[in-house]
Amino acid sequence: MIADREESILDRQYSNSERNLAAALREFRLRAGLTQEELADLSGLSVRTIGNLERARSARPHRQSVDVLARALGLSGPEHETLRRAARSRTVPPAPPGETAAPYRSVIQLPFETVDLVGRDDTIARVIREADERRKASPTHATITAFTGMAGVGKTALAVHLGHQLNGQYPEGQIFLSLTARGQRELTPAEGLRRLLRALDVAPEDIPETLQERETLFRDRVSRRRIVIILDGAASEAQVTSLLPGACPCHVLITSRTRLAGLSKALHIELKELDMRSSLELLERTAGAARVLEEPQAALDLAALCHGLPLALRIVGARIAARPQRRLTDLVRRMSREGCLLDELEYRDMSVRAALLPSYARLDFAARDLLHQLSLRDLPASSLSQVASMSGRPLWQAEKAVEQLIDLRLLEEVRTGDGRQRYRLHGLVRAYAREQAGRVGLLDLSIPGALPGSAPCVDRR
Ligand SMILES: Nc1ncnc2c1ncn2[C@@H]1O[C@H](COP(=O)(O)OP(=O)(O)OP(=O)(O)O)[C@@H](O)[C@H]1O
Ligand SMILES: [Mg+2]
Repeated sequence: MIADREESILDRQYSNSERNLAAALREFRLRAGLTQEELADLSGLSVRTIGNLERARSARPHRQSVDVLARALGLSGPEHETLRRAARSRTVPPAPPGETAAPYRSVIQLPFETVDLVGRDDTIARVIREADERRKASPTHATITAFTGMAGVGKTALAVHLGHQLNGQYPEGQIFLSLTARGQRELTPAEGLRRLLRALDVAPEDIPETLQERETLFRDRVSRRRIVIILDGAASEAQVTSLLPGACPCHVLITSRTRLAGLSKALHIELKELDMRSSLELLERTAGAARVLEEPQAALDLAALCHGLPLALRIVGARIAARPQRRLTDLVRRMSREGCLLDELEYRDMSVRAALLPSYARLDFAARDLLHQLSLRDLPASSLSQVASMSGRPLWQAEKAVEQLIDLRLLEEVRTGDGRQRYRLHGLVRAYAREQAGRVGLLDLSIPGALPGSAPCVDRR
């Protein structure tokens, strides 16, 4: 599949319309968990047609074919429109002569944006402004921006959006490299460099063996190119340092759940949850405004149950759109049942539980235990001494566990109005940690001030 993708990226230069539809179709198909053959069966189109559309090798398809595909993919109203829009979108004019480095073709690899971004205007403006200042101050050096934040908060979505938006300033292309290889394993720097070199038109037989040689060739290849490189889902600084170009008029956008403090020259941006207004806006865009306006109180309740996490809001929006006859209050009731919240926050390949799992899996025993303990108490925020007493460990040990939880974005450090430091659990992290605590039998313990024990969600109708 990766070979397929590389071929489609490198084979030829797409028009934007072909690229948009190809990326959108592929993304919707993968999200629906369908192979090209299955989609062909469901839609009545041939596997060849679908393959060609996904490789951007077809002329613009008829609207009827797009509608048939949308139905087969189970796309809701707004998503159906997104696919239509992708099929209609116009070709961008080529960059003016002299703008591109002559020997290279431009690279276009950004995923399609399936939903318009909400609530990030200030952050976008800040990145563009600061990147501009940095570029002016040091025009031959790569500008690096690193986005951090908890799972599902929208780091990738924002980086991709910026990649599209920065197109004009970086006309020689955009490269998107996932560092987690579809969530399975971390990409090694050597493999990351191999993929970057392939994206930059280096033939497989010309890719050197050693890491150092790959780095040198990569730096040479990008040294005069104005491109945007997105390194998505970095696990650590060590994973990305070899992939940073150094002297190059390009912009590197990195996303990571952990703060990459070692990248001292980067602009670091911490993404927070959406506020209530943006949460409702996202619900409207994904579920359809009419449904939200019809049941405003239920929409507010749903937004509150998602705790501002865009991933959760998208899941809820998609579920509403998929059931046009069902009332929003029904979903509120289901999500409010004790122990059922995370069961309801799953739709097709989107799952809050699955998004939180990799961070949780990286915790050592003490940090995991502390997270369980914190999740069982209904405290808005705790001081370090409270945290230490919950953990039953000396302060220094509790502090170490707290650091790990903060690094993995499972605990948030906040300052109170009078400047004191407190620690806060995100509502969905709390729900997840309580489930895990239940698994290790902690919910049976009698903890002063503990939340009532939560039985697993059984009623899944
Ligand atoms: N501001 C936003 N407006 C609209 N949709 C958003 C926004 N932020 C994120 N989303 C959507 O929410 C979902 C989760 O976002 P995304 O994948 O970018 O999260 P992430 O922070 O990269 O998560 P992870 O740490 O798991 O990689 C995606 O479907 C994305 O399109
Ligand atoms: Mg991501």
